[in-house]
Amino acid sequence: MKDNFKLKIEATDGNARTGVLKTWRGDIRTPAFMPVGTAATVKAMKPETVRETGADILLGNTYHLMLRPTAERIHNLGGLHKFMNWERPILTDSGGFQVMSLAQLRKITEEGVAFQSHIDGSKHMLSPERSMEIQRLLGSNIVMAFDECTPYPATKQETADSMRLSMRWARRSFDAFHNGSVHAAKNALFGIVQGGVFEDLRLESIDALRDMGFHGLAVGGLAVGEGQEVMFEVLDYTMPKMPTDVPRYLMGVGKPDDIVGAVERGIDMFDCVLPTRSGRTAQGFTRRGTVNLKNARHTDDPRPLDEECGCDACSKYSRAYLSHLIRSGEILGAMLLTEHNLTYFQDLMQGLRDAIAAGKLSDFVADFHARRALGDI
Ligand code: GUN
Ligand code: ZN
Repeated sequence: MKDNFKLKIEATDGNARTGVLKTWRGDIRTPAFMPVGTAATVKAMKPETVRETGADILLGNTYHLMLRPTAERIHNLGGLHKFMNWERPILTDSGGFQVMSLAQLRKITEEGVAFQSHIDGSKHMLSPERSMEIQRLLGSNIVMAFDECTPYPATKQETADSMRLSMRWARRSFDAFHNGSVHAAKNALFGIVQGGVFEDLRLESIDALRDMGFHGLAVGGLAVGEGQEVMFEVLDYTMPKMPTDVPRYLMGVGKPDDIVGAVERGIDMFDCVLPTRSGRTAQGFTRRGTVNLKNARHTDDPRPLDEECGCDACSKYSRAYLSHLIRSGEILGAMLLTEHNLTYFQDLMQGLRDAIAAGKLSDFVADFHARRALGDI
C-alpha cells in the first residue's frame, strides 16, 4: 500500500478491528462513520460543528456536484475541501448509485449511464472515465469505482450480469484513476464488491477486484431492502474472503444496530444519511432507542434528549424546547437534532473502537442491546 494512505490495525476482537487509516489530509479512526455531505454541505451543520461531533471524514457525491454547481466550477475555485471549508479527508461516491435512484430517463450501456438531471432535465453521461475525472476535479481523497448498485430483488442472472458489468467498470475506473497521476499519487481508489445475495457471485466479485490493486474495498448493493438478517448473512460469507490489509467499507449503512453487527463482522467504514435526515424529520437517536420529538409526551419534558450525551442539544436544551422548535418548523430544531444525531453516531463508533481495543466487544454489544430494550422513558 502507498505510504500516504495506510491502514494501521491496532487491535482485533473476533472479526472486528480497530485502528487508524492514515491519509495526507489527516487520520481516520476506524471503525469510522462518515456523515453525508451530498451537496457540499452536511445539511443544517457548519463543518466545524461536524468536526466537534467527532467526524474524521465526510462523504460527498459525484452525481449531485457534477450537476450543481459542476465539478469544473469547484475545481476552478480550488477544490471541494476549500469550497466547503472542510480540510480533512473526503470520500466521494462515484455516482453509480445516485444516478439510478434520482436521475430521469436513464440508459445503461457498456459505456456508462446516459441520463437527464433530476434538477433541470439537462442531458449528461456518467462512465467510469467521467466519474474518475469528476472525483479528481473535486479533489477527493477516497475515490469510489463507478459501479451499478444491483436493484433488489433481482434474479441470479440479472445480479450476475450487473455484477460483471460493475467488474468491467472497476477495471476501467482503475485505469482512469491512475491516469490522473498527480491526484492518484496522493489519494486512494476503492473497488466495490457486488453480487447481491448470492454467495458465489459475491466471491466472484471479490476475486475480480482483489488483485487489481485497490487501496480499499467496499461492499455495495446492501441495505437496499433485503433486511438486516439477509445483510448479515451476506457479510458472514463475504467478509472472510475480503483482503484484511485494506479498509473495508459498507456503503449506505445504516441504523445503529446494523453498524454494530457489521463492525462485529469486520467492517471498518460506514456512511448513511440516517442521522442527518432524521435530524430534519424529528427523529432522535438515543442510547435507549429512537425518539420521535413530534410525540406529545415531550412538550412538557424538561429533561435532555439523551441524559448521557454531551452535545449542545442535550447539554443546553430540554426535550420540551426541541419539541417546540420542531412543532414550529424552526430551523434551529433541525440544526440541534442533526448535531445530536451525529454526536450519537460518533459516540457509538468511539464506544466500538474502545471496546475492540479492550477486547470487550461482546460486552459492549450486549450492553448496547440491553439499553435499547429498556426503551425511552
Ligand atoms: N451506496 C449504497 N450502496 C451503494 C452501491 O452499491 N454502490 C455505490 N456506488 N454507492 C452505494
Ligand atoms: Zn445530544
